[in-house]
Amino acid sequence: MIELQLKPTLYSYETCRDFVKELNIGEGDVMITNEYIYEPNFKALDLKCTVIFQEKYGLGEPSDEMAEAIYNDLPKGYKRIIAVGGGTILDLSKVFSLKQCHPILDLFDGKIEPVKDKELILVPTTCGTGSEVTNVAVFALISRHTKKGIAYDTMYGDKAVLITDLLKTLPFKVFATSSIDALVHAVESALSPDSSATFRVFSYNAIKLILEGYKKIRDNGPEGRIPLMKDFLLAANWAGIAFSIPGCAAVHAMSYPLGSEFHVPHGESNYAMFTGVMNCYMKYKTDGEIATMNAFLADILGCDIKDVYVELECLLDTILPKKALHEYGVTEAQLPEFAASVIENQQRLLKHSFIQMDYDKVLAVYKSLY
Ligand SMILES: NC(=O)c1ccc[n+]([C@@H]2O[C@H](COP(=O)([O-])OP(=O)(O)OC[C@H]3O[C@@H](n4cnc5c(N)ncnc54)[C@H](O)[C@@H]3O)[C@@H](O)[C@H]2O)c1
Ligand SMILES: [Fe+2]
Repeated sequence: MIELQLKPTLYSYETCRDFVKELNIGEGDVMITNEYIYEPNFKALDLKCTVIFQEKYGLGEPSDEMAEAIYNDLPKGYKRIIAVGGGTILDLSKVFSLKQCHPILDLFDGKIEPVKDKELILVPTTCGTGSEVTNVAVFALISRHTKKGIAYDTMYGDKAVLITDLLKTLPFKVFATSSIDALVHAVESALSPDSSATFRVFSYNAIKLILEGYKKIRDNGPEGRIPLMKDFLLAANWAGIAFSIPGCAAVHAMSYPLGSEFHVPHGESNYAMFTGVMNCYMKYKTDGEIATMNAFLADILGCDIKDVYVELECLLDTILPKKALHEYGVTEAQLPEFAASVIENQQRLLKHSFIQMDYDKVLAVYKSLY
């Protein structure tokens, strides 16, 4: 088993100017970002690279159609892809570092060999996905009405770059959804049967940093997050390292139907599943890593171990109020369809669950969250 694998070289800079100067960003580079990230952070630096604004190609999380449209506009002969954005931009950019990524559906169907071709530099501007240190890209496949992830080692970034300054414009709602995503990465990876003592160092440290941060925001209000952005960026990165090999599990698997059919942001759809899945695990197995996890959480939350998921939800609700599935417009009749789709399409994730998750368990969790 793999005890720890660290693929990209991790850099951190105080400012975008330092980043541009040290990594010599310029001619021959393509930067994929958003205009509202580029304007305040890079415009004055007068970069000589090609800049592509992702939002001109479609709104929301990545899709095969969005990727095809960007692909058509990429210049010929570029050497490096520099992705500066949230998980959406990082995941999109990963496929453009491959020798061939078109048609995108063929890449997702395994019909194209994912050969690495360009240097890839990944710079997150949210504090969630950890995509800068994983080999995963998750796209909505529009014609198939589903979200699918691919994971190829050739899609690891060569460099992952942390610049806290980039998060200063992050709206509270995106801060909330992305940091809850990071928390779920940390918890799911710690409980994964494929984790190790070393990966868990990253999981548990990420959990602590995120929950201690949430307590301060609960006490000081939303603006209380501003001085904590460096902690949250680091925690999201550690959580990314933590799940890079051990994987995410049932929470992520079960969030996909809600995310793709009801356009719920990734972190929010995870939160909708999170405690439901934990309570399901606890029904079948209360010893092993989940006992360590519960004691760890109880210590941070200052509560009794038996109340840990109630107390955790109370704290998380101050950051992002949890909604029942029917509040998103899900109908009761859809729950079996959701469960069947998870069993059919999300084995990549389900296999890392703390206990084996079958159709009946998945359906029971959906019903408990309805
Ligand atoms: N590859 C992986 O390992 C992995 C892991 C988890 C999630 N994901 C994927 O990542 C995506 C979600 O990414 P996300 O949570 O980072 O959100 P996101 O990239 O979808 O961004 C959400 C919104 O915030 C805006 N935004 C981002 N940074 C900003 C900033 N600094 N200032 C102002 N606005 C900013 C974006 O433009 C967008 O409108 C999903 O598609 C999910 O499936 C990938
Ligand atoms: Fe995630």
